[in-house]
Formats: sequence, C-alpha cells, structure tokens
Amino acid sequence: MPGRQILVTAALPYANGHIHLGHLVEYLQTDIWVRFQKLRQNRCLYICADDTHGTAIMIRARQEGRSEEELIAEMKSAHLKDFTGFQIEFDNYGSTNSDENRELCARIWKSIREADIIVEKSVERLYDPEIKTFLADRFVKGKCPKCGAADQYGDSCEKCLANYSPTELVDPFSTISGTKPELRSSTQLFVRIEDLHPFLEEWTQTGEHLQPEVSNFLKQNFLSEPLRDWDVSRPARYFGFEIPDSPGNYWYVWFDAPIGYIASTWEWCKRNGEDLATWWNEPGTEIHHFIGKDITYFHTLFWPAMLKTAGFTLPAKVHIHGFLTVDGEKMSKSRGTFILASTYLKHLDPTYLRYYFASKLGPRLDDLDLNMDDFIAKVNSDLVGKLVNLASRTARFVEGTELSAEYPDDGGLFAAGVAKGDTIAEAYERCDTNTVVREVMALADAANRYVDDKQPWTLKKDPAKQGELREACTVCLNLFRQIVVYLAPVLPQLVQQTRELLGAPIADWAESQQPLLRTPVNPFRHMLNRVDRKQVDAMIEESKAPTSEVPAGEATTNESSGDGLEALEKEPLVAENCTIDDFVKVDLRVARVVEAMHVEGADKLLQLTLSLGGDIRRNVFAGIKSAYQPETLVGRLVIVCANLQPRKMRFGVSEGMVLAAGAGGKEIYLLEPDSGAIPGQRVH
Ligand code: MSP
Ligand code: ZN
Repeated sequence: MPGRQILVTAALPYANGHIHLGHLVEYLQTDIWVRFQKLRQNRCLYICADDTHGTAIMIRARQEGRSEEELIAEMKSAHLKDFTGFQIEFDNYGSTNSDENRELCARIWKSIREADIIVEKSVERLYDPEIKTFLADRFVKGKCPKCGAADQYGDSCEKCLANYSPTELVDPFSTISGTKPELRSSTQLFVRIEDLHPFLEEWTQTGEHLQPEVSNFLKQNFLSEPLRDWDVSRPARYFGFEIPDSPGNYWYVWFDAPIGYIASTWEWCKRNGEDLATWWNEPGTEIHHFIGKDITYFHTLFWPAMLKTAGFTLPAKVHIHGFLTVDGEKMSKSRGTFILASTYLKHLDPTYLRYYFASKLGPRLDDLDLNMDDFIAKVNSDLVGKLVNLASRTARFVEGTELSAEYPDDGGLFAAGVAKGDTIAEAYERCDTNTVVREVMALADAANRYVDDKQPWTLKKDPAKQGELREACTVCLNLFRQIVVYLAPVLPQLVQQTRELLGAPIADWAESQQPLLRTPVNPFRHMLNRVDRKQVDAMIEESKAPTSEVPAGEATTNESSGDGLEALEKEPLVAENCTIDDFVKVDLRVARVVEAMHVEGADKLLQLTLSLGGDIRRNVFAGIKSAYQPETLVGRLVIVCANLQPRKMRFGVSEGMVLAAGAGGKEIYLLEPDSGAIPGQRVH
C-alpha cells in the first residue's frame, strides 16, 4: 500500500516574544506526530513559520528603536535555536513577511473579492491619541461586555470565552499608554462570513475534522446565530501587507498568518523542485493543523472559509490541545514558572520534557500541568530507571561481542511487544501519547522483571554460564530496542544512542517487529542522567530574574564575569605552591553513584556506593545530606579521591572522598565531569 501524503503545521509563533514551555506543548506534540508518520513510511512535511505582522511587533520595534525587519530576523533565529535545542525538526520554517506570502495573500484575496463577500464599512475604532495609532484588539483591555470580568482583552474574554469587538469593552484603556482610547472612524473591509454559514455548519459537524468537544463548542457558541462580518483590514500605520486594491489599508495579521502555512510550504516546494498544488490543491494530500485552544475560532471558521472560497484543500483535521500550567497554576514570572525554552535548556536535558509532555498529552483539550515533583519522579523512575537502565544494566556484559545468532526463548516477551504494535500506533495516530507511554512502560516493566530474574551480573561471574549470559543480554537488548522503536517519535536522542550501541538504524516502525541477531554490541556509553532537583530549582530561580524575557540581542554581554570576591574572602588562596609530584599523589577518579542512602543516626552524612568500573566498588560517607536527596544521586557521575587513607567512622569505613565545592549547608555543589567521561578515568 502506498503511504499517505500528509502536510502538518503547528501554529506560527508570534515574532514578538521568545518560545516558552507553553509553546513547546504544541511544537513537541506536533514533532512527535510527524516523526511517527515518517517512521510509518508516510510522506510527511512539518511546516511552520514566524508570525511577524501586526501591532505588537510594530510597538516592540518602536520601543527598541529599530526596524521591524531587524527585530523579526533576530526573533526567527532565536526561535529556530530553541526549536533545534528541543530536537524539533521542521521541513520548512518560513516567515509570514515573505514574497511568497504576499503573493498568496493577493491570490486568495482576489478569489474572495470574486466571490463577492467583501463589504466596506465606515467603522468607529479605538484610537490611542498618545501614540497616534489605532489600537489592535490585544492592546485594549477593559471589562467583558458579556460577563463583566475585569482586565479582558479587546477581542475575547478569558473567563466566559465570549467574542466581541473592542469598542464593546466597558471602561477600556490602552495597554500601551494607559490612556482612555478615543473613537475614530475609518473605512474598513469585512468578509461576510455568514455567506459560508451552511458550509461551516456542515464542515465543523461531520465528526471527521474536529474533536467532538470542539464541534459542540462551535455549534453552541457561534453557529447557533448568524456569524458576524469578519474585520480583515487595518488602517495605516500597520506592519503588514498593504491591500493591493485598497491603498492605505493593510490585511489584518490573522488574514495573512494562516496563509503563511501555504507560503512556507511553497518555500519548501521551491527548494525541492515540487509543485505547490500537490500539497494544497489536490485531494491526495491530508492537511493537519495543530493548534492551542485559544485560536480555535480562527482555524475552524475563518480559515476553512477562506480555503473553501479560494479553492484550496480543506484541513483533514485540526488537532487542538489545552494549555500548560506549571505546578497547578498559570505560568507566572513572579513564581519563576514562566520558563523560556532557552532557560530550560541551560539546566535540563530536552529528552526529559519530550518524554514528560508525551506522557501527559492525550486526544482531548484538557489543560496539562507540569508538576515539578511529578516531572522529576517520572523522568527518574520511568525514563531513566526503567527504560535507559534496561540497556545500561545489560549492554556492558556483552560489549565488544555479538548478540546471539538465534533469538532465545524469552517466555514470549518480544512477541508480546510485537502484539502491542498496532495499539500503540493507533494511539499515536489519535495523538494519545499518554496511552503510548503507558503501554510502552508496561513492556519495560516486563523486561525489567526478566533482567531481575536472569541477573546477568551473577551469570557474568560464572565461566560456565557465558552462553546463558549472552542469551539473556540478547533478549534484554532486543526488548530495549523494541521499546526505543516504539518511543522513537518521542525520544530521538535515545534513538541515536541505541543506533550507536547496536550499529543498526531505527528508521522504520517495522523494526519493532523483528529482533536483531548476531549484531556487534559497541561499548556502552552513558545515555541519560537522572534529573536533580537542584537543576529544576536553578531553572526556576533563573526564570524569576526580570531580565529573562529580553530578546537575545538585548542581553548585555559583559567582558568581566560579574562574579564577586565573597568566596575568596572566606577562603583565601593557599600561599604555598605544591609540586606536580605532590599533586599526582592524589588519585582522583571519575565514579558513578550506584547506591545512596541515609545513615541512621547521622544528620549530615549520606552513604554512597561508588562504582569505579567493573566490579570495583567504594563505600564512602559524604557530608552532603543537607544539600542532596539520595535518590537524585543514583546514576550520576562524581569525582572521588580514590587513595585517601580509609577512615573508620561510627557507621563504617569510608573508602574515599567525594569532591564538592561550597560552604556547607544548602551550599554544597558536587563536582561532575562533562558527559562522555566514564567511571575509573583518572582526573589529571
Ligand atoms: N501567531 C498566532 C498563531 C498564528 S497561526 C496561523 C499565535 N501565536 S502564539 O505564539 O501566541 O502561540 C503559538 C501556539 O502556541 C498557539 O497554538 C498557542 O495556543 C500555543 N500556546 C501558547 N501558549 C501556550 C500554553 N501556555 N500552553 C499550550 N499552548 C500554548 O497564537
Ligand atoms: Zn466574559
């Protein structure tokens, strides 16, 4: 069967702000869905762009004393850097301020004119006399005309979801200057969308294109009465495209933004020698839009109406997700939960968030919560503890050799995994990654029980059992790989690492259905650290800083590090030099914490079991309890002084010392080598 041809878009992020974790819900959900389609051998494009027009950009550029073009160019590269950091892979990332978009807007406008549904009206609009600009909907606030809620934007109410025009707001004020806006009249163009009411009624209610709750919402709130004319022009000054047949008027940003989906596809087509019509005008292509619930109206009413009128393919599906909250509340700068993508990446591995969001997202529109405790627990116990550990607990016993030539009897485990394939694929298809993760983790649990049962580390010690060891490891690594194939859309980094370990690519879902045999196993390289609560705290702390939302170009790069002298004042540098001979007497080694425990009766100490590689273990008592939870240490690398005279303590013998900086108490910072280091390596 030939594969499907699928065009996928995520909403175009505004160019007036940086990407934050809320946005990432969408770009990750979409990336996962696209990767899934590609893994299934469908032809699939992931298209996005920056949404660059409108008053917000104009005002920001003005505040920063530069041109809009300069601002949007900088934002585009910042957005792309953030997306790349999260392994989000677009086939094309364009801009709505492009020649392609201008041309397509003109083309679609012409069709709409020809359909005779544009009307011209003189309207009263809110004008800010202080900054001499008509105010866009988002730049006036006031009380909702329907429910009276205070502090609502000019276009819709967050409390009751009512849609209205800014002039209906009660007690309006300009969010830019704070002044009370004046009413001024201007000539504006409207689309008489009511003419498409029957079409929209049909299209939104077939049950094929929208989630059921969305269809119902539209029916009850919009389609039950005549649709209001849609205000698609804005008077100068406006940053956008001037309407060719209406000089002095510009297309409202929500007219040209979705057309940006087509324009960005066109850029891809030009680069790849393809015809745009294949993707946007021929019935063979499925178009899937991913958006957040706040922009439902634009994508489920205006956009289909425009496409229909201009003769483009209608979306096969609009997938709508809910909003992200952090620790149960709306993201907030003061609480440090308004976390930028770039701030996250300074502290944490993107794999964690990909996994976490996947585990939370389902096919419905419910909001999802990033609960930091749950995040740490899920990543550490499931992703690292159950999944990555499957490889780390077994690969080292067979590295440098090959997997068995025949697949051993595993009690039906691999076959059970094969049997789950369709269920998992169907869950991906309907964006139910929560189910995907649950199903896959059940497979990981079964695989871990197998490891516990076989105990490869015990087999390793018995020369008579080396055959059995190879078989057990063949099973474990195949179960691990099967899971990695199933989670490949979510965890591209783990795919890469598994490929390096087993030398076989993972590019096709079908690879989950056949075990790998006789494959050389490469030396095991550490795959993923546990999350440390401290990293999360540091990220939140940094997000509280008032500077965290300035655009990249505004950040001051200071020549001096800005660090003070407090530390040196407390502990001055040692005056007397040591020789290199003195230094090499201290045998510093990389070690992995394999166990960490509280010590009964000791209020400062943790008892650590360190691995220096192979079976070499050290028992160390470290005075770090005030700063570290034992469970966050297991798996991480530390630096240990390996030849310190063993010391008998009340609780046992300490066979080394773990290196840390800091004054003590909460201020203890364990030293950790950069990733790639392995236990036993000497530190010079
Ligand atoms: N520029 C418009 C979209 C135009 S599409 C033709 C826009 N941009 S946005 O930057 O505000 O949002 C981009 C996407 O991110 C939207 O789908 C929006 O719903 C989503 N999210 C923004 N904040 C979010 C959360 N806190 N949680 C989940 N998604 C969120 O809207
Ligand atoms: Zn309201």
